[in-house]
Amino acid sequence: MVRGRLMAEGVPVEALARRYGTPLYVYSQSHLASRFAALAEAMAPVDPLICYSVKVNTNAAVIGTFAGLGAGADVVSGGELYRARRAGVPPSRIVFAGVGKTREEIEYALRANILFFTVESEPELDRIAECARRLGRKARIALRANPDVDPETHHYISTGKAENKFGLDLRRIERAYRRAAAHPSLEIAGLHMHIGSQILNPAPYGRALERVAGLCRRLRARYPTFRYLDLGGGLGIQYRPDQHPLDPARFAKIVLPFMQASGLRIVLEPGRFLVGNAGILVTRVQYVKSGPSKKFIIVDAGMNDLIRPPLYQAHHEIVSVRATRGAVFGDVVGPICESADFLAQDRRLPAVREGDLLAVMSAGAYGFAMASNYNSRGRPAEVLVQGRRHALVRRRERREDLVRGEVAPRWS
Ligand code: LLP
Repeated sequence: MVRGRLMAEGVPVEALARRYGTPLYVYSQSHLASRFAALAEAMAPVDPLICYSVKVNTNAAVIGTFAGLGAGADVVSGGELYRARRAGVPPSRIVFAGVGKTREEIEYALRANILFFTVESEPELDRIAECARRLGRKARIALRANPDVDPETHHYISTGKAENKFGLDLRRIERAYRRAAAHPSLEIAGLHMHIGSQILNPAPYGRALERVAGLCRRLRARYPTFRYLDLGGGLGIQYRPDQHPLDPARFAKIVLPFMQASGLRIVLEPGRFLVGNAGILVTRVQYVKSGPSKKFIIVDAGMNDLIRPPLYQAHHEIVSVRATRGAVFGDVVGPICESADFLAQDRRLPAVREGDLLAVMSAGAYGFAMASNYNSRGRPAEVLVQGRRHALVRRRERREDLVRGEVAPRWS
């Protein structure tokens, strides 16, 4: 806030809303760069390969910012691979994860000559081998270990526990490596893990590393091409005022000793940590409605624009773009025809009026990327700010965009 006005770097958010309309996603480029630098510096002693997790915020301006800083990309679909390459990420720094890769996606990635596939099952291993053989190429692979540790986060976004669908448990994984070694079209490049998301305490990373330390030593001795340990993403950010983003120095303190002893090159796949706190969703109040027990602040952004609150009971701070006096108790809700369409529930909120602007904080990660056209609403515009400069990096979807791609059946 500067003189009672919320700023995005050097630009008043109010001015952005006036210029580009609402709902509007706004990202700070300096914030993106400073988060990347903080992590890169903390991990510098082991020369990390930081692969930005593209699923988190897919805008080319965001991916391109990280590519310009030397980042690679973590992708989970052919579409993300396409975006990463188009935004200038060299294929030699792209890793491809996901439990359900299709033949078409595998071949696309093989032709692009990405760094490696992270492999989640034995059938997938066989499929990648078969695709590589057909194309006359070698596929570099890292098997995904499920270390069965509790990342101490929301159960929807914890991925490294035994009951999750991801990866191979530690008993099965050695057998899978032997199977990989038997395929001449595969090259064993490393081991992958991703234990969950929004992790604020780095201790679970230490526990996961302890679980795979022996395995890594054996694999390194057995396979001369085994050289990467990909620790995935998961580094958490601030959503509530009393939280702090995971401290890269604390993370490094846990991870560095292990990495130095292992002789392996570390790959990281952070997403939320790099973009979450760099973005806000700006929305305009349409109506203020009084219910029997609380107020409903009805805004022009809905669950189609930001689904995290209803989907994960996620908390996003909501602030007034212009300083207000007084507070009300209630919900911030959108225009969608669902009771789950809320951005905040049962909260002390700024006393705003029709026409005022609110900012939903920490919305840079899994915001626009998870937006949909539900209720036939065009997805919001996205703006990148740097200092006093601002640029539209994705225009607001128009009505025609909603029906683009629809085809009438021939018999109608
Ligand atoms: N690597 C892999 C293999 C992943 O599955 C993920 C996220 C990441 C990296 C990046 O994780 P991050 O650094 O952002 O925590 N939509 C949910 C989060 C889903 C996470 C999916 N995987 C949310 O809004 O909280």
